[in-house]
Amino acid sequence: MPRIAGASGGQPDQAGASASAAPERPVERAASASHGRAGEQAVAGATIAVYSVKGGVGKTTFAANLAWCSAELSRRRTLLWDLDAAGGSGFLYGLEPKGSRLAEEVFSRERSPRGVIQHTAWERIDVLPADESIRALDAQLMRIGKRRRLAKLAAELAADYERIVLDCPPVMNELSAQVVRAADLVIVPLPPSPLSARAFDLVVREIAGNTKRHPPILPVLSMLDMRRTLHRQAQETNPNWPAIPYASVVEQCAVHRQPVGALAPHSPAAQAFAKLWNAIERKLAD
Ligand SMILES: Nc1ncnc2c1ncn2[C@@H]1O[C@H](COP(=O)(O)OP(=O)(O)OP(=O)(O)O)[C@@H](O)[C@H]1O
Ligand SMILES: [Mg+2]
Repeated sequence: MPRIAGASGGQPDQAGASASAAPERPVERAASASHGRAGEQAVAGATIAVYSVKGGVGKTTFAANLAWCSAELSRRRTLLWDLDAAGGSGFLYGLEPKGSRLAEEVFSRERSPRGVIQHTAWERIDVLPADESIRALDAQLMRIGKRRRLAKLAAELAADYERIVLDCPPVMNELSAQVVRAADLVIVPLPPSPLSARAFDLVVREIAGNTKRHPPILPVLSMLDMRRTLHRQAQETNPNWPAIPYASVVEQCAVHRQPVGALAPHSPAAQAFAKLWNAIERKLAD
């Protein structure tokens, strides 16, 4: 059955109980295998995708904040790769795309990603921004017919970056299939509800149904509000899932265009992202 990453590094399959209905699939990849570095230490490059078929669940918020944790807490050279035409990840770092067809040219290999990558105010975080042309990326990938184009680009970028974080659009298509092929770990933000486990099962099934081999998939409760009974119940039902609290300071990130770790380092939300990042690093080291 598909491997589901657990909340704690030592219990990788516990969170998978709720996804037990997912179809049989072969083994997960080693954390660094997609970069051709199998056998190396855990410091080898890793690509982390933040993905869900659902919109508005916190993917961009997770991607931007986890990239910050990677760079500032683990002090890793980090690339935040925005694959959503909304451009939220770049926006959260105060960046705007410098053209309208740059992303398309990166995927067609007319342009090196290194010429499109922008630096942020943080030394170790760079962003590969999305632009208008990302809207047609799925059709472009289908036309190109290279199933591992995204994975190969990521592998090349791994020479410069220890961690690549993919901010994905809420789609299930060739682009998402390429994301899964490129990723060493998939993070799925889930709004807390009695249906959280079911929603997670659905994402796992869709990933497993579209790719022969897939990386570990880590469910994370997103926008958890402990004042709400259903949210508390969702956490009690899935005690091994990491959780990010609902917090107005997270919304403020879009106003100040800074990650929460920089804006409010002592806030519960910043602490929760740090804890989640630690769980991710432990998982990558498995
Ligand atoms: N923990 C949180 N606390 C409060 N607000 C949050 C939190 N996480 C996300 N939000 C807010 O929820 C909204 C949706 O979040 P986000 O844009 O990250 O979702 P998304 O999954 O990337 O959406 P899309 O599918 O449209 O790309 C944003 O306004 C964001 O500021
Ligand atoms: Mg988004």
